[in-house]
Amino acid sequence: MKAKASGKAEFGNWIRLRIVVTFLLIGVALAGVAFLVGDPVWRIAVGAVAAVPLGIGIYLTYVYLMFGAGGVQRRLWDSVLDALVWDGAGEALDIGTGQGALAVGLAQRWPQARVVGVDLWAADWEYSKDACARNARAVGVDSRVRFERASAATLPFGDKSMEAVVSHFVFHEVKDGGGAMGAMAEAVRVLKPGGAMAVQDMFFDRRVYGEAETLVERLRAMGLVDVRLVRLSARVRIPWGMGGRRVLGCAGLVTGVKA
Ligand SMILES: C[S@@+](CC[C@H](N)C(=O)[O-])C[C@H]1O[C@@H](n2cnc3c(N)ncnc32)[C@H](O)[C@@H]1O
Repeated sequence: MKAKASGKAEFGNWIRLRIVVTFLLIGVALAGVAFLVGDPVWRIAVGAVAAVPLGIGIYLTYVYLMFGAGGVQRRLWDSVLDALVWDGAGEALDIGTGQGALAVGLAQRWPQARVVGVDLWAADWEYSKDACARNARAVGVDSRVRFERASAATLPFGDKSMEAVVSHFVFHEVKDGGGAMGAMAEAVRVLKPGGAMAVQDMFFDRRVYGEAETLVERLRAMGLVDVRLVRLSARVRIPWGMGGRRVLGCAGLVTGVKA
């Protein structure tokens, strides 16, 4: 029997609300101190210091709103799912699933597919396994989607066990094992021959992945064929103020098929 949707899915925001609020509160508190200081020189000095956290807080509020209400996150998730060349037969893996957006999205797009989403769900993110399960239930795909706590560096799946693998803005964060490239190798390892991969991450950040041409060669050496690496800006319109290196400026999409 088909599961019944029981509410609205909530996939969270990559900008952590508590960080936004902390910057705004520090900025407002310092601005208040500047207002109360009698000496004009000190007032200007404290006011200038207050402008820094206040400015960061306002910018982060803008990015938070663009990602969520502005629909940027949704467009970025769609970019990954649109790029996945798969017939939906078998099982797909979403690595670093967060609040389950891509895992649930896979199950919605491919109604026969089974899906597993893994994440560390460490305390530094406002995501949880329970929230992932709630989201799968909310859109009625919970009978085909499961979630497991695991690191991208050591996936708890056999070699050649998945028909498709996706991941979104995760591998640059992987600190254990072989880091970002180690996570990429794990993703290729679990793919079946002929299986498809679509991964979006900070592929144009040289400090994480080295030169783009070298990256493609290394992916081929891992056993991927038909490897394509494109800048995110070639696929999705990046909103004003969000093309910086630390936001979306270094982002790209890798697609390929396991040989
Ligand atoms: C920017 S969020 C992206 C979440 C999700 N993919 C999305 O697009 O909404 C980064 C995610 O990577 C996860 N993560 C970081 N390091 C990880 C690791 N070593 N293994 C698995 N997940 C990891 C975090 O817990 C977080 O959920």
